[in-house]
Amino acid sequence: MKISDLAKDHIKNLKPCIHGGEVWQLEYNQKKVLDFSANINPLGPPPKAIDAIMNSFWKIPFYPDSSSTSLKEAISKYIGVSPDNLIIGNGSTEIIYLFTDVFMKDSDKALIPAPTFGEYEMAVLKANGKIEYSPLTHDFKIDTKEFIKKIRGVKVAFLCNPNNPTGLLIPFNDLLNIVDKAEKEDTLIFVDEDFMDFSPKEKNSSLISKINSCQNLFILKSFTKFFGLTGLRIGYGVSNSEVIEIMSKAKIPWNINCLAEVAAIAALEDSEFSDKTYRLIEEERDFLMKELSQIKGFDVTPSEANFFLINIKKTGLKAKEIKSKLLNFGVLIRDCDSFKGLDEYYIRVAIRTRKENEYLIDSLKKVMKS
Ligand SMILES: Cc1ncc(COP(=O)(O)O)c(C=O)c1O
Repeated sequence: MKISDLAKDHIKNLKPCIHGGEVWQLEYNQKKVLDFSANINPLGPPPKAIDAIMNSFWKIPFYPDSSSTSLKEAISKYIGVSPDNLIIGNGSTEIIYLFTDVFMKDSDKALIPAPTFGEYEMAVLKANGKIEYSPLTHDFKIDTKEFIKKIRGVKVAFLCNPNNPTGLLIPFNDLLNIVDKAEKEDTLIFVDEDFMDFSPKEKNSSLISKINSCQNLFILKSFTKFFGLTGLRIGYGVSNSEVIEIMSKAKIPWNINCLAEVAAIAALEDSEFSDKTYRLIEEERDFLMKELSQIKGFDVTPSEANFFLINIKKTGLKAKEIKSKLLNFGVLIRDCDSFKGLDEYYIRVAIRTRKENEYLIDSLKKVMKS
């Protein structure tokens, strides 16, 4: 018996997506390496979330609530939607895959900007869909006209706002225009707002308030980035109740463990932590932008998120080389070569605390000198 003959052909061709945060694969353990590659809140998880976990170990021998009712209620209050507008996932990645599994039929087409987060592509391929790419402009903006032109015949169009790896926001009116045109073509618009919490322009940029007026709109959110609950795996989707109901039918049971659920609820209540994060990211975004831009040969894309994309071509070094040299200083960065639409001359670094950012700058300068 040949096992591979028994598997679906399109699954056999899948290759894993490359990500930052490979701390477990390094010879350094995660305590020794300073991780600038994964864009996680440098303050770690909210203290209230840790307390909630410590007080909830007694829940471990019970199955968790499969519909995550308490967490939906907490999110519903936090973002101002009904619990019926929410689906909870084991990380927002699970929701990307659930969405494509539910809506992409064999050979359906998806529209994906390039460069952007790699798991949209993977999820579409896993669902046996086809992909059309929409390249960003030379300054990494969405080419709205082109994007709209390409929507015809597309089942799902993905947008990441702010975009990973560029950190740029899509203008609100462009988004509304895309969603409106897509609705006329029966195209679903999937907007990943995982990094939106870090943007000072969140209120005027998020599409969450439009989920009931735009039938074809789905928003993705995560507890991984802003709330630092990365290893617990928790994220959610926001949409009209019809979309949520059909997705809930396909969700695997008990996908959220009992500790992740209590931690996420407590995280939303920790306003001290959130305020501290807003202040830190705003200050450090300015600091790092200024410092990185002063390094000779660095061309830094201004960011609305908690990371920077840097074109390093003028340094004469490749991203791989800088990454490997920085590891000698215990600093891990993202080599962006694997992003469709970028080449070997792009790196991405996360915003961390002042001391850590200073260490990054210092290490980068030493690498450049050598
Ligand atoms: C834009 C974007 N969306 C989604 C994810 C997945 O996050 P998680 O599954 O941890 O919620 C990531 C992770 O890097 C990301 O960068």
